[in-house]
Amino acid sequence: MSSPDLSDAERQAVAAVLRTPNLSMGGEILAFEAAFQAYTHSRNALGVSSGTAGLHLCVRAAGIQDGDLVITSPFSFVASANVLLFERATPVFVDVEPHTGNIDPQQAHQAASDLLAGGRAAARWLPRRGAEAGGALKALLPVDVFGQPAEMDAICATARDYDLKVIEDACEALGAEYNGRKTGTLGDYGVYAFYPNKQITTGEGAVIVTDDDAAADLMRALRNQGRAPGDTWLQHTHLGYNYRLDEMSAALGRVQLSRIEELLGKREQVARWYTERLEEIPGVEAPQMAPSTTQASWFVYVVRFAPGFDRDAIARRLEQQGVPARPYFLPIHLQPYMVERFGYRAGDFPVTEDLGKRGLALPFSGVMSEQQVETVCRMLARVI
Ligand SMILES: Cc1ncc(COP(=O)(O)O)c(C=O)c1O
Repeated sequence: MSSPDLSDAERQAVAAVLRTPNLSMGGEILAFEAAFQAYTHSRNALGVSSGTAGLHLCVRAAGIQDGDLVITSPFSFVASANVLLFERATPVFVDVEPHTGNIDPQQAHQAASDLLAGGRAAARWLPRRGAEAGGALKALLPVDVFGQPAEMDAICATARDYDLKVIEDACEALGAEYNGRKTGTLGDYGVYAFYPNKQITTGEGAVIVTDDDAAADLMRALRNQGRAPGDTWLQHTHLGYNYRLDEMSAALGRVQLSRIEELLGKREQVARWYTERLEEIPGVEAPQMAPSTTQASWFVYVVRFAPGFDRDAIARRLEQQGVPARPYFLPIHLQPYMVERFGYRAGDFPVTEDLGKRGLALPFSGVMSEQQVETVCRMLARVI
């Protein structure tokens, strides 16, 4: 489905780390974080071991705990909702916009207003079961889906109206711009992730950015087993985690980030090849961009089939021809553990479910050739 874009510079940087005795908590993580600060113009950048770890730390920094409510999207990778469950908070899902798959900002605003009003108004947004009565609304957690920014101006306005924190899940959107501003920097905290299919990779890893210095200090302590500044190796002021990013990963990330414009440009070119060819295949819809997406950052290339097409049969046939393709996303609220815990049913979030039924991710990376894109599209046309 995907392949990282690595050069000898990355290989040399990782090999150089392995010639030193410092494999964790050395100079590479500091250099990587400094490069990220400069790239995003953020006051703080923290390397962590995964996007999930980064989002979890943001949830802790936002003070989200037992029974609290957080408005988020059911059309996402599960981690964005799971990090709330880690702290025994309740994700309050609102449906998404049909074109982008990003959280619908009007519905998010209405949900915030109703949840704060309480009673019957609040109840229509809560799951059938599993939410504690009287839970406090603490935050919004929008996701920049497939590399396209959520409608962050409206979301941040809702947060200001109701005194809520905003955790921006930019795990899929490093380099994207919303009305000229970088994703990940638009809320109180943002997280970019670097699994090998992402725009840059560290193997596993992520970076949190925030302008909130106190939150950054807390998250630095929490990622390092709860050690506050001044604590020794065996002193732990907080209940923390080992969410550190090692030096090999940081070195890899530092070189990848120095190539970011090249990497994003190659991905954009591959997306353009796909879009040009798909125009010729009836019933296949290319990804759509919102006007606020002044710079897209392609993470995956997800097409949608017109109603009546059998997406799963198409995926199976493609696979038989040696072309991998994956449904993207399966809605979070219909994952078995979510159904069991909160009593969700099919039909609860119709737009999310419709996108989940019709979307198919095609093979995508910055190292794909025009010939490979051509082959995938020819196969797709034939299978259809
Ligand atoms: C939207 C979103 N959030 C969170 C994550 C979690 O990141 P990681 O796999 O690095 O834990 C991902 C990863 O794919 C993601 O796509």
